[in-house]
Amino acid sequence: MKNEMQIIHSVFELRQRLATEPTVAFVPTMGNLHEGHLDLVRIAREHGRCVVVSIFVNPLQFGPNEDFHKYPRTLQADCEKLQGLADVVFAPAVPEMYPEQQTMFVEPPPVATELCGAFRPGHFRGVATVVMKLFNIVQPQVAVFGKKDYQQLAIIRQMVAQFNLPITIIGAETKRSADGLALSSRNQYLAENERTEAAFMNQMLKGIAQAIKQGERDFARLEQDAMQTLESRGWQVDYVAIRGQQSLLRPEPGEKALVVLAAAKLGMTRLIDNIEVFL
Ligand code: PAJ
Repeated sequence: MKNEMQIIHSVFELRQRLATEPTVAFVPTMGNLHEGHLDLVRIAREHGRCVVVSIFVNPLQFGPNEDFHKYPRTLQADCEKLQGLADVVFAPAVPEMYPEQQTMFVEPPPVATELCGAFRPGHFRGVATVVMKLFNIVQPQVAVFGKKDYQQLAIIRQMVAQFNLPITIIGAETKRSADGLALSSRNQYLAENERTEAAFMNQMLKGIAQAIKQGERDFARLEQDAMQTLESRGWQVDYVAIRGQQSLLRPEPGEKALVVLAAAKLGMTRLIDNIEVFL
């Protein structure tokens, strides 16, 4: 890294700062950074001379009853964590990203209305739209996303392919606590007993992956059983689903690259996780 990390709030200044950079690697985030995010930044470092991290809690991707206003905003602590890892932090205010009402959208494919999309209407349209805007502002050669948000990553990949964006998308493995719980900004909402139970989601996914590897092919039954188990332990389940890794559609017979995805609430906190299965 050449200089001190810079914190930039305006699109104009960011463009000026990046104008002479030969390669830019980009990590979009909503802040409240944890080790999972920092892993993405370290991966970005391997792919670009200049590493840009954006921190922006995007109102467009939150539903009216979701946690937009409650979402933790910790810019100063985030910047301290990024010191030595990133070159530029882009932290725009909402009017900087949306100076006029956003009436143009990136409309994702029908798969965006399944899985998490079924429970968060408009969420992936909000994600795709802000990521398109961020890509146009930062103009990176490489962008890094976590597999933790598997459906988001799949939709971003499709957006980049179908709109011919000259950006390489890298999917990073999910960073976990020792008990298997995927790191997430939302974990801090969990009460102590919920935090202990939260690790069960990953254990359950591993169990399903194991069963598939051992030859179980009644996916509907695996999904149903898992949802019942979660419910019986006090979770409110959105879905447990076995899908193809790229399409996120139900697997074709003989499909070899699968992913098991789950979303469920413990109390007020919605957790998601997934595990890839290669046959
Ligand atoms: P956010 O939830 O802040 O996540 C930023 C990036 O960190 C995403 O690519 C996410 O998949 C990744 N990430 C989160 N937890 C992770 C973990 N435990 N291990 C590895 N990677 C992890 O996702 C968003 O923000 C937003 O939707 C955004 C893409 C920034 C658009 O607003």
